[in-house]
Amino acid sequence: MTINCQLQEYSVCFLGYFSSEYSSLTHGAPDFMSTKSHRSIPLAQMGFMSQLAHLSKAEKLIALFERYGDIVAISQREKFFAVNDVDAIGHILRDNSEAYDKHFPLYDRVKFFLGDGLLTHAGDVWRQRRKLIQPHFAHYSMPEVFSVTVEKTKEMILRWQRYAREREAFDLAQELLTLMLQISSKVLFHHELNYSKSRFLVNAYGKTQRNVNRAISMSPWCPSLAQWKARITHAQIGQAIEGIIKNHVPQTPADMLDTLLTATRCPMALLSQHDVHEEMRTFLGGGHETTGSGLVWTMATLLQHPEYVERLQHELTAVLDKRDPVYEDLPLLTLNKMVFQEGLRLYPPIWITGRRLLKPDILCGYSMPEESTVTICMYALHRDERHWDEPDLFNPYRFMQEAVSARHKYAYLPFGTGSRGCIAQLFSMIQGPMVLAMLMQNFEFELLSNDFSHELFFTIRPKYPVYVRVKER
Ligand code: HEM
Repeated sequence: MTINCQLQEYSVCFLGYFSSEYSSLTHGAPDFMSTKSHRSIPLAQMGFMSQLAHLSKAEKLIALFERYGDIVAISQREKFFAVNDVDAIGHILRDNSEAYDKHFPLYDRVKFFLGDGLLTHAGDVWRQRRKLIQPHFAHYSMPEVFSVTVEKTKEMILRWQRYAREREAFDLAQELLTLMLQISSKVLFHHELNYSKSRFLVNAYGKTQRNVNRAISMSPWCPSLAQWKARITHAQIGQAIEGIIKNHVPQTPADMLDTLLTATRCPMALLSQHDVHEEMRTFLGGGHETTGSGLVWTMATLLQHPEYVERLQHELTAVLDKRDPVYEDLPLLTLNKMVFQEGLRLYPPIWITGRRLLKPDILCGYSMPEESTVTICMYALHRDERHWDEPDLFNPYRFMQEAVSARHKYAYLPFGTGSRGCIAQLFSMIQGPMVLAMLMQNFEFELLSNDFSHELFFTIRPKYPVYVRVKER
């Protein structure tokens, strides 16, 4: 399929999303059974939606749940619903996940800029791929994730020491995304991306994402500048992937790229060369966008709370003193981990997901027809007052063991849950907290930006650069 066709297709399937018809259908069909028909699910009314025009999609969803309850019809005609009930969410993502697939408008777009890889596959292809790739994210691979994270962060610290000497301000978001891409590339493909190449690719992913969004919001039938720009940056990432494959030296034990390439050569040819490309696009993109965004928000929020900065630095001094961290330090840095968890609560990098029903199901007491689409907004879930006291407040102690045990197990889902949950949860929970610890251990930060509005693509991103200045500790 050409990029042009792909962009058109995404536009068509995304048209109804929060913007088109809301009220054209009758609802309230008679109830013959104890479960109600999906047609009696409260429908988001046009008048109310227009009052929310100034809000982001995530904030709109919070307002819709507050107004209509835990299940709301965004479009009855397109059978598009939003769900915020924790039990229903667990049912969709875990307990009855076999009844759902991942055909969801957002994922159709994601395919273009993040590749048609593990994140977007369905059925047997997905099962086969997950089995193939999973070992690279198992417990026994984590010491390597740790050592690459420390090595690459130390390189960044050297650069930041120069910024410190020269009192130079810089964009924290750019720096952290670049670092995350370097780490993913080295761990998964044993490819060293230098700073400038990595930064170039981070920009290429960012621009592709932004331009795909722009292209979709314009007329899908008219070739646009945004489409053209998206195609250019998409191709630049493709060339970089080509280079990584060409220069790859087989590793012992095999790295993820070895596993993918071997699968192209096995007698059943599980994967084509194109599949390898797409998986690499997914893992390089997903690998830096998610943890990078999580860490930027964590740090931007933490730096606005000097009392927690002080407590964290106290913990870092007590555990590490001035030395480099070792793997065994991880469980000792408890506040550090909770700070990262709280960052992911307030700004879950993947802020929304969705599923399509393959067969009828019952959600929140409503019978839902086949082919319905249900969306789950982690951003809304993580700010729901029923699970979180003063949800907008930054408070890492929400993640003390007793508080976690007292909470509903599906109230906190930054990594999703069930068989389609994040393959790299362990990886990110080493990478994110370790980078945070090393930066807070080495530097005092001065936060120069003061507008922390967000923009929503596949991930939740700061709308403006997050400028900081650092001083060595
Ligand atoms: C803080 C960091 C991260 C967060 C919050 C996060 C979040 C998520 C979530 C919510 C899902 C499930 C989506 C759904 O149910 O629709 C997911 C899936 C996935 N993530 Fe992550 N992720 C993170 C880091 C990473 C990294 C570092 C990688 C790659 C190196 C990665 C690769 C993937 C892949 C491939 C899937 C699809 C798994 C499947 O469907 O089998 N993620 N992630």
